[in-house]
Amino acid sequence: MSATKEIAAEKPMFVLLVAGFGFFLLSFVGMGLGPWISLSATMDPPKEIADANPYRDENGDKNAAGRGRDVYINEGCWHCHSQFVRPVANEEFRYGPVSQAWESMYDVPNTFGTRRIGPDLAREAGRRSDDWHYAHLWNPRSTVPRSIMPKYTWLFEQQGETWVPTEKAKDLVAYLQGLGIAKKEEVRKLVWPTRVVTAGAPIATEAHAKRGAELFAKHCIGCHGEKGDGMGLAKDFLKPSAADITTRYLPREEVFRVLFMGSEGSSMPSFSELTEKDLWALAQYVHDMGKEVRKPALALAANTAAVERGREVYRKNNCASCHGENGMVPPAMEGLKPAPKHFRDRLYTADYIKKVMAEGRPGTAMAPFPKIKGQELDDLAAFLNSLFDRQQYKEE
Ligand code: HEC
Ligand code: HEC
Ligand code: HEC
Repeated sequence: MSATKEIAAEKPMFVLLVAGFGFFLLSFVGMGLGPWISLSATMDPPKEIADANPYRDENGDKNAAGRGRDVYINEGCWHCHSQFVRPVANEEFRYGPVSQAWESMYDVPNTFGTRRIGPDLAREAGRRSDDWHYAHLWNPRSTVPRSIMPKYTWLFEQQGETWVPTEKAKDLVAYLQGLGIAKKEEVRKLVWPTRVVTAGAPIATEAHAKRGAELFAKHCIGCHGEKGDGMGLAKDFLKPSAADITTRYLPREEVFRVLFMGSEGSSMPSFSELTEKDLWALAQYVHDMGKEVRKPALALAANTAAVERGREVYRKNNCASCHGENGMVPPAMEGLKPAPKHFRDRLYTADYIKKVMAEGRPGTAMAPFPKIKGQELDDLAAFLNSLFDRQQYKEE
């Protein structure tokens, strides 16, 4: 008799009402309450950070970063770049610490973006040098040979043969270098390894060398040039200039070290995200490039009289204060960015040493030493090459 009598829960209206409310509640909690609670915990900047607008100076006028932000918005960079590190998908391992709500409190309108054709930029501070950014904005293929990012040549002007950044480009770079400044140290630790991790060099083979050549074209030619002589597309912008690899002999282990660690303070990035196999292939390729330097450089070092005179030039000019007595940079100087080079692990052509003495390495602590001339230069070349540690690299 009650078979035909519907119970309340089966009435269509009831089902609709409960389902409607239920889903509304669910989305309210999931999309409103949840994010609100998790974000409200990060609304206020930590105490040690001054609550100051990073885009204005004391008078309330826009500063370089503020003007750079306008350039970023006007150029539509946000079409391809997000600025929010999400707490999902291991993003913090790629980009750095998860974004906090307070970090964007002065970003009106916000620049979170919706698409990531390029990488997230919320943690750009501490990642790249200024010269890297200039070269990259002028032509992204100069620093990243396979990049699909468009050129922004109109942010630069031509002076004679070279390109120089306009005020707009300088402002934009100031803005980029300030993105995520509060977490700069964490990002630095992520991007610049402090020690090399490897199982050791594999046996050098033809296949490795070939793979190395491919990888060099893919990652390195924009800065180092196809021949490795530092004459890549980016050459107008890089200070210090990309190393001219044809002027030096580097053991594979040393190339591996440089590739893994990068050279902080210069545009030379760390390639530690490549596989170990690829890094050794590149190391072999770069090493092979300098092979011709090895013999003549060691011949210079065989002239013991010149070496002894060169030692005196080295002492008189206090080179050891930065490069060390025995060609190993003292720990205190490792903090220079870029750091002085270990002569224990390098051989140079005499011409290159003369060039460095005449010009220094602009953009680094390496000043020119124009007082060192003539015979002294040759003696110095003999001495520096005598510091090379043959014991360690006796494989060849
Ligand atoms: C069509 C999409 C696109 C546009 C528009 C674009 N980018 Fe990119 N961007 C990319 C891609 C792809 C990469 C990754 C390859 C590379 O590094 O060039 C990238 C990389 C970058 C990087 C390097 C991040 C890093 O540290 O590795 C920066 C900085 C950058 N872009 C800034 C900008 C700025 C500033 C603008 C506007 C002036 C802009 N981008 C416009 C696609 C774009
Ligand atoms: C964005 C530009 C840039 C890219 C890309 C780049 N380099 Fe460099 N590289 C430099 C600069 C600049 C230096 C000089 C750093 C310094 O003086 O501390 C350098 C230095 C080096 C050195 C050190 C030479 C020495 O004696 O210390 C080696 C080796 C090297 N790069 C190899 C490579 C290889 C291999 C690649 C590609 C996987 C590469 N670089 C990609 C800019 C770049
Ligand atoms: C104030 C510290 C300092 C002093 C003093 C100094 N250097 Fe350097 N030197 C550096 C730094 C830093 C670099 C790394 C520059 C770079 O990144 O290319 C360097 C690099 C070099 C290079 C290698 C450049 C390259 O491309 O690999 C040579 C050669 C060199 N120095 C020789 C000398 C000699 C010889 C003296 C003494 C006459 C000397 N240095 C004194 C700091 C110093």
